Amino acid sequence: MDKKVTVIGAGNVGATAAQRLCEKELADVVLIDIIEGVPQGKALDLTQAASIEKHDAKLTGANGYEASKDSDIVIITAGLPRKPGMSRDDLISTNAKIVKTVVENVVKYSPNSILIIVSNPLDAMCHVAFEASGFPKNRVIGMAGVLDSARFRAFIAMELNVSVENTHAFVLGGHGDTMVPLPRYSTVAGIPITELMSKKTIDAMVKRTANGGAEIVGLLKTGSAYYAPASAAVEMAESILKDKKKILPCAAYLKGEYGINDLFIGVPVKLGSNGIEEVIEIKLTDDENKALMKSAAAVNELKSFLKTL
Ligand code: APR
Repeated sequence: MDKKVTVIGAGNVGATAAQRLCEKELADVVLIDIIEGVPQGKALDLTQAASIEKHDAKLTGANGYEASKDSDIVIITAGLPRKPGMSRDDLISTNAKIVKTVVENVVKYSPNSILIIVSNPLDAMCHVAFEASGFPKNRVIGMAGVLDSARFRAFIAMELNVSVENTHAFVLGGHGDTMVPLPRYSTVAGIPITELMSKKTIDAMVKRTANGGAEIVGLLKTGSAYYAPASAAVEMAESILKDKKKILPCAAYLKGEYGINDLFIGVPVKLGSNGIEEVIEIKLTDDENKALMKSAAAVNELKSFLKTL
């Protein structure tokens, strides 16, 4: 392939992302993990599936960063997942150290790459990556809104018994309890869901979306969701690799947009070969804006906590 994507962390999210990347023939894929043998074994396993899955992407597993040299995109999934009873924020101290080390290594070998951050707590880890990389803000992007919106879309389709392909949803804000699903901008075949469902039903779906990750942690008990998170990261990578310029909700470093400064938070952005090519500012009602500000305050608190580490 003429593109190269490195995935750091060959655990549940990382290995699933690697699988989706190669099966879609988006790029050659390098899997990196600190555990000896795991990235190599998973890369070999995926390579052996290639003739059946009909792709020619090359897969490499490694414990060092040399193999990642000159990657176009680096997807960072290294870190601990949550266990039942934990919030994403409980992971901050451990994952901040991991993400910092990982990014410092990534930058040495791929100074022109675009970083897609998946490790949690997402918005805070974007700050860690932004500072550790020294990259411009268009090249550090957090995966959260695509996942939260996909969860919302799944619930809309389930509720109305329609094709999920007909659904569209927008979820803004931080990737946590304060996320801001926007029913007014969520549609089925272009029709806002506010015209198709009662407020009570929508409120219940909004709550389930915000609790979407925790619901899965509660079921799995030994880790957190990974199929949908991997799909979401790969959709972002695809838009960048193919310069599709999709508008997707992602965590972006804001410099005044939405009245927010120097903070990573979920907003709609245009993703193309330069990473974030535009932050799209949509009109919010007073209540929506209040919810976004509350979410920004929660992310700001985590950002301040990072300084104490
Ligand atoms: N360098 C490289 N890999 C690392 C490092 C490091 N410094 N530290 C940990 N890892 C690896 C682990 O060895 C493990 O294989 O990261 C991988 C994480 O995989 P899982 O434990 O399966 O976790 P996963 O479900 O993939 O979630 C990873 O993404 O969605 C978020 O909250 C989730 O922060 C978590 C991350």
